[in-house]
Amino acid sequence: MSDIIKFLSDNNLNEAIKDQPCNYFLIKDQEKKESNPKQENKILNPDLPVKTAQEQPSQTKSHLQIKAISSTSEALQLLAKKSQENNMDNQNQSISLSINDIVKKAQELANKASNIAELRQAVENFDGCNLKKMATNTVFSDGNHNSKIMLIGEAPGNNEDLQGIPFCGDSGKLLDEMFKAINLTRDQLYITNTIFWRPPGNRKPTPEELAICKPFVDRHIQLINPKLIILIGATAMSTIIDSSEPISKIRGKFLDFAPNYLSQKIKLMTIFHPSYLMRQSNKKKIAWLDMLIIQDFMAKNF
Ligand code: URA
Repeated sequence: MSDIIKFLSDNNLNEAIKDQPCNYFLIKDQEKKESNPKQENKILNPDLPVKTAQEQPSQTKSHLQIKAISSTSEALQLLAKKSQENNMDNQNQSISLSINDIVKKAQELANKASNIAELRQAVENFDGCNLKKMATNTVFSDGNHNSKIMLIGEAPGNNEDLQGIPFCGDSGKLLDEMFKAINLTRDQLYITNTIFWRPPGNRKPTPEELAICKPFVDRHIQLINPKLIILIGATAMSTIIDSSEPISKIRGKFLDFAPNYLSQKIKLMTIFHPSYLMRQSNKKKIAWLDMLIIQDFMAKNF
């Protein structure tokens, strides 16, 4: 089935596998708000060629360089590399030394937690991430901690900060629609983020903030021990797996996630972030195919 889906997707023939016209998780009010006339045209005419060469899932099999970021030292090495790339000066390098200590502290606290309730408590008590000072709530998780599917997003937004629940705003509504399309509700999933506090103005989390929260995320994965991890968007992807490929190449593919803190590997897939889909309606078509691939995986493995 996944081979068929891939073939149809690669050849942009996916309309052929619908039983009835599909709106690709369309949330009408949102669409009106978000789409421009050009995008509306694409929604009304899903058969229009919408993909650029860059967006098209690759037809030639490229070799994917995938690796789990599995230890603090590795996360710090990556952080140092990113800092260098960003031409950080000597002053910032000394800041990253103190980040090293904060990350170690986070790792110590995370490893002490022997269950999800203790981990939540550890995150809520942790003061090492500056984002917490500006946040209303710590946003830890939602859903069912016995779920076989763990979703990991980027960071809380405004609604999430106010309510303390991940994906409870507009992008959360679309995320719910995406999973509803394959008959899954929130109480059948477990949802968290790579960052537990809202970055001001919904900016992207910095590499330092991601590195500081990462030990808690690693422990979170270890304690939930799902059968399938779904990374939501490029930030979650680059935080959890070390890949030089863009999300457009990684999405929709099952990878083996095998960091050294897991006793056995977990299947992992990346999907487009619903916020991105709200801005790029034409990509909902691909996102819908990704959901079908997940459904197929569940039918075969759960
Ligand atoms: N976007 C995310 O990545 N996570 C949330 O919790 C909300 C929006």
